[in-house]
Order: sequence, then structure tokens, then C-alpha cells
Amino acid sequence: MITNKMPGRRKFMGWSFFTSLTGFFGMIFYPIWRFIMPPPVAESTQNSVKAAVVNELQPNSGKIFPFNNKPAILIRLSNGKYRSFTAVCTHLQCTVQYRKDWKIIWCACHNGKYDLNGLVISGPPPRPLEEYDVLIVKKDIIVTRRKA
Ligand code: FES
Repeated sequence: MITNKMPGRRKFMGWSFFTSLTGFFGMIFYPIWRFIMPPPVAESTQNSVKAAVVNELQPNSGKIFPFNNKPAILIRLSNGKYRSFTAVCTHLQCTVQYRKDWKIIWCACHNGKYDLNGLVISGPPPRPLEEYDVLIVKKDIIVTRRKA
């Protein structure tokens, strides 16, 4: 009678060991696998975003703001009008900035210079900056991507 129970206990111990081992390796390798293969995340794409409020920017100044997970720049010209562009340099994707002393858009990485229409003045950038439309709605400054 005792000998009949022995294979059952052995079987149970083997099954228990196997499931524990499986759980242990699962705990180790599942996070590593999820890190290596992250789930696909849909990139949110907005066509417009609130960039600032009226009078937030002084004339002849600029502001970087996020637009579709990338930096964009809003510039208030000396005459009070607004211009907006992507702030991603077309050379090697550094973030550009507004230089109030030169009244240009400047990329510090390789001294790339753009005029206030986003066109390349000098330096290595191969293309102009993508320009956005600027609308003032009540007290908000809304930047909108132009339709292709
Ligand atoms: S990344 Fe802007 S000039 Fe090179």
C-alpha cells in the first residue's frame, strides 16, 4: 500500500518543482522580454495646440512648446505678429531657438541659421523649417499644422 503512494508523491513533487521553476524563470525573463519588445504605442497626432496666451511673449522674443511630442517654436516679432515653426533643426534634429539679438532662428549645434520665414540663411541645415499657422482665439494663441 505504501509503495502505491510513492509514485504519486514523486509525481506531485516533480510537478511542483517544474511549476516553481517555470514561475521563477517567468519572473526573470518576462520583464526583460517586455523591455526589449515594448508594446506598440500609437503616437498621438494633433493638428493644433495651445502654445501660449496673448501677451505672454514680449515683442522680439520666442518660446519653445511641445507639439506632437516634438518641440515647436512660437516667435513674437518686433511688430507684434506671431510666427511658429517646428523647433527641430533639419540638419541633425537639434532644438532651435530664437535669437533676439540677431532676429533669427538659430541652431546652436552647428551654427545653423534660419530667417523668420523658416528659410535657411547659412549653416548646414538642408531644408527650411516647417511653418505652422498661428491663430488667436480669445486669449489663447493656437498653433495649427498646415494641411499638405
Ligand atoms: S543640428 Fe542644427 S545645424 Fe546641425
